[in-house]
Amino acid sequence: MQVVRSLEELRGIVRGWKRDGLTVGFVPTMGALHQGHLSLVDLSVAACDRTVASIFVNPTQFAPHEDLDAYPRQEQADQAMLEAHKCDLVFTPEVATMYPEGEETRVSVPDLGAKLEGQFRPHFFGGVATVVAKLFNQVQPDKAFFGEKDFQQVQVIKRMVIDLCFPIEIVPGATLRAADGLALSSRNAYLTPEERRIAPSLHLAMHRASIRIRNGADQTAAVAEAIKTLEEAGFNQVEYITAVDPASLDPIEGPIPDHPCRLIAAAWLGKTRLIDNIAL
Ligand code: PAF
Repeated sequence: MQVVRSLEELRGIVRGWKRDGLTVGFVPTMGALHQGHLSLVDLSVAACDRTVASIFVNPTQFAPHEDLDAYPRQEQADQAMLEAHKCDLVFTPEVATMYPEGEETRVSVPDLGAKLEGQFRPHFFGGVATVVAKLFNQVQPDKAFFGEKDFQQVQVIKRMVIDLCFPIEIVPGATLRAADGLALSSRNAYLTPEERRIAPSLHLAMHRASIRIRNGADQTAAVAEAIKTLEEAGFNQVEYITAVDPASLDPIEGPIPDHPCRLIAAAWLGKTRLIDNIAL
């Protein structure tokens, strides 16, 4: 596996692959890799001739009060995992490569990006769309792989790819969970042992609510019960639990329609913000 920091080197290698008629898959990450990321690498390796992963903790998707400095960084361990999963190249750019001096251009997906997560993290999707657009221009992949745990992120990136005419197929990968149901996330590393014990309640409460809603229960009542369960379990704040249309992310009021919907949630457990979503 090649470890590449410079954009020129990345471009030279990818150009060589393309000249040889090889397809390129791409897995963008912020590092602190877990099996969820590695399952995306596996999907890419199976679908494409060459796989590139990036590791870049993107400052523009963090608000000043958020965890940019504390975000877990473990480059050596990440590289070993990527190599074991047959990744061909890991791109680890400097901040100055991604945001050159004087930079000011931003990509915005204003409507989709303002819903759900956007209400609580208004800066977030602008930062994500901007860095992913830059990475797409740098790597020029044929396919890019994103985990469904960040369900809204997948929809925002799909919208951006259509709107900005990127010739890239966005491939979602299923959420991976620990045996107790907790969705794998780099931020799970922040949980204390006691919080780690409580954390799977999020998935459990969502699962119960989804069954109740599917069986015809009133959505507001099912969600209120899930919130009460989480507060009793030790969550300090549930920001949202909502049934949404999977494409528009608009809330579904009243009876759940026949077509697939999503139950989507964000909640604070101590100092850790957990997000999750399940099919409804
Ligand atoms: O999902 C993530 O890890 C990040 O939001 C991404 C897509 C790598 C952009 O920084």
